[in-house]
Amino acid sequence: MKYPAEPFKIKTVETIEMTDREERKEILKDAGYNTFLLPSKNVYIDLLTDSGTTAMSDKQWASLMIGDEAYGGSENWFRLEETVKEIYGFDHVVPTHQGRGAENILSQIMIEEGDYIPGNMYFTTTKAHQELNGGEFVDVIVDEAHQPDVKGDFKGNVDIEKYKNLIEEVGAENIPYINVALTVNMAGGQPVSMENIKKVKEISEKNDIMVMSDATRCVENAYYIKEREDGYQDKSVKEILKEMMNHFDGATMSGKKDCMVNIGGFLAMNDADMYQEATSLVVVYEGMPTYGGMAGRDMEAMATGIRESVNPHYIEHRIKQVRYLGDKLEEAGIPIIKPVGGHAVFIDAREFLPHLSQDQLPAQALAAAIYLESGVRSMERGVVSAGRDADGTHHYPKLETVRLTIPRRVYTYAHMDVVANAVIDLYEKRDKISGLEFVYEPPTLRFFTSEFEPL
Ligand code: F0G
Repeated sequence: MKYPAEPFKIKTVETIEMTDREERKEILKDAGYNTFLLPSKNVYIDLLTDSGTTAMSDKQWASLMIGDEAYGGSENWFRLEETVKEIYGFDHVVPTHQGRGAENILSQIMIEEGDYIPGNMYFTTTKAHQELNGGEFVDVIVDEAHQPDVKGDFKGNVDIEKYKNLIEEVGAENIPYINVALTVNMAGGQPVSMENIKKVKEISEKNDIMVMSDATRCVENAYYIKEREDGYQDKSVKEILKEMMNHFDGATMSGKKDCMVNIGGFLAMNDADMYQEATSLVVVYEGMPTYGGMAGRDMEAMATGIRESVNPHYIEHRIKQVRYLGDKLEEAGIPIIKPVGGHAVFIDAREFLPHLSQDQLPAQALAAAIYLESGVRSMERGVVSAGRDADGTHHYPKLETVRLTIPRRVYTYAHMDVVANAVIDLYEKRDKISGLEFVYEPPTLRFFTSEFEPL
């Protein structure tokens, strides 16, 4: 079915507050034109992120009631550990409070000053931890990933030539691991093919480089493989996921996405020594290796959520609901990243606002304008998110986007219609949108807390 109906019925509802344009004008100004800083009560449809915004199922809420809050050896931990081993297939699991907790531990264990860490496009927190540990991130994604207009089935793939060239240039001994994200968030939620994962593994093995995965949205990636890659149509998403993970030496996971919970994460690996090191770090930064910053109840809900995430009806609806919004925008001629990816629709802000230069922060300005006009909250993923280079100048990413990120199981197709119409209406008066400038900028991960003023 092109757009399957929600494979769930609604048991609890949360009332949404409405605001009018005049109110939003003040609210936006108070938030420094940064959608991260908007109070959630003033947001109509919240597409800031799919992270931690999932609606839990009745079974997950029931899981909360059997939380074993013991400091050591919580029953829920054993269930979570067993679930991760079964569904993803890794030998060892270290729990963390969320994805960046796992990234911190992985980066500390693996990276030495002067190392290079290739990856299929940067992610903000991942790159920050690599740099904090003296490493340098190198983008080895295929060129099409940076080209919003070019369609492709697997625009998240690692460019094998770029990867080989890097090994030749800097030496395999200076590359502790390659980090393969599934799907690629900053490229628009674009998937990676099984064939590409296998090739990356083959080259890495030859060169004694470990292959780690940012598995944050790996179930969505598995669905795309089923849909688009030859030979996988008759396999279940669950089987494909396991096969994918089988090619990795380990993974970081933000449980707030594909594990369907509001908080949580883990670092998984096959190497026993690495696991020992990770357990000695987890007690410093997160908590005991049997809770890692999560409550017992949260671990139980995550174990239940992981099993629900590979339900074929859930994942099909998830992907197609996002596609529905993308199709509506594309049909109306709105410039978006094509094809639509797993978790979000990304608007190409430079095409939307051709009268603004990248220094005038077009994606930030567009996100602010969408909120002002409709109460829909989106997120900048452009020059503000990309931060500054070592020499202090802005890092100018090729993609300057606004992300309409769809939370899991939260909104209906009717909400998607509202969002599409809001963006289409705004497009009609796009020449009235002015640029923004920084009035406050923190030193790292600036997009979270920066403040702006209209030019
Ligand atoms: N990796 C990817 C690909 C992510 O998208 C995120 C978070 C993380 C790692 C970090 O995980 O938030 O649990 O610490 N992405 C959120 C987003 C913030 O909105 O895209 P975390």
